[in-house]
Amino acid sequence: MKQKIIIAGGTGFIGQYLMKRFREAGYEVLLISRNSSRITWTDAHKIRTALEGAEALINLAGKSVDCRYTEVNKQIILGSRVQTTKQLQLAVDQCSTPPKLWINSSTATIYRHAEDRPMDETEGEIGTGFSVNVAKAWEQAFFEHPTPATRKVALRTAIVLGKGGGVMAPYTRLVKFGLGGSQGSGRQVFSWIHIEDVYQIIRFVMQQPSLEGVYNAAAPGPVFNQQFMQALRERIRPPVYFSSPEWLLQLGAQLIGTETELVLKSRWVIPKKLQEAGFQFRYPTVNEALDEIFGEK
Ligand SMILES: NC(=O)c1ccc[n+]([C@@H]2O[C@H](COP(=O)([O-])OP(=O)(O)OC[C@H]3O[C@@H](n4cnc5c(N)ncnc54)[C@H](OP(=O)(O)O)[C@@H]3O)[C@@H](O)[C@H]2O)c1
Repeated sequence: MKQKIIIAGGTGFIGQYLMKRFREAGYEVLLISRNSSRITWTDAHKIRTALEGAEALINLAGKSVDCRYTEVNKQIILGSRVQTTKQLQLAVDQCSTPPKLWINSSTATIYRHAEDRPMDETEGEIGTGFSVNVAKAWEQAFFEHPTPATRKVALRTAIVLGKGGGVMAPYTRLVKFGLGGSQGSGRQVFSWIHIEDVYQIIRFVMQQPSLEGVYNAAAPGPVFNQQFMQALRERIRPPVYFSSPEWLLQLGAQLIGTETELVLKSRWVIPKKLQEAGFQFRYPTVNEALDEIFGEK
């Protein structure tokens, strides 16, 4: 019989990639979703049955943060993460053979705006503000009840780079439309991770029973925003490019319904614990990651 992996919120960018890779590796993959063609959040019995004896539960569910932070959106961003996590906790508690491992997504945004030094899991400082509070509440909901038979790992994930989803489409559009220079000062640090490394980290954590708690899922080679934009321009080769000062970004963000924090916050996050545990990144540098994404290798 195939070993089971359950992915909650698995219909999105990261979840679909993980589903494909785990299926290729011979696993049975089941998704929990709001969509009625999958196991739905309203069917507690099916969720529990799916979790029985699973190798791993991976929870990615949450409304996208790429929207205006109105009061309504803020409530949904927070609630969709905390409530799904609590619901999974109840289901895990009811299993007679609970999943061996539960990986919950978290975010590298939990750390403060950092231009002075990198943030790791032990010396990093937690920030303030709405998105940090969401991350804190998400991790608290995840860790507040012990699960003696289920190992828990929260992945503080940096911006995920991969083909056909996430931030690559908006960044590519920006460069093609002539806004391929830096955003704001360009000196904010851009921590990122290739989507294949997200999968490889999960495989690594599955194979290392001593790993638990919080881990930064970020490549060891973060770059300045201006370096990232230059690396994109080298691949897209726009005829012209302009930088976007902060006032223009504020205006643009309002027009397209997003928040400037997504590009202006300096997220300088390094994967200290994963590297100490011996994890080897397939894509340690932004050039290697973009070469794969733009199909140059
Ligand atoms: N992509 C990144 O760069 C990145 C970086 C750090 C952290 N993360 C976190 O990783 C997770 C997955 O990221 P992603 O890029 O794959 O996101 P995504 O493409 O937006 O997918 C998230 C999934 O969450 C579910 N969802 C959306 N709104 C929901 C709601 N109100 N209630 C319950 N479920 C809801 C959706 O599944 P259904 O429609 O099937 O219900 C969706 O497929 C997210 O929680 C995100 O915050 C992502």
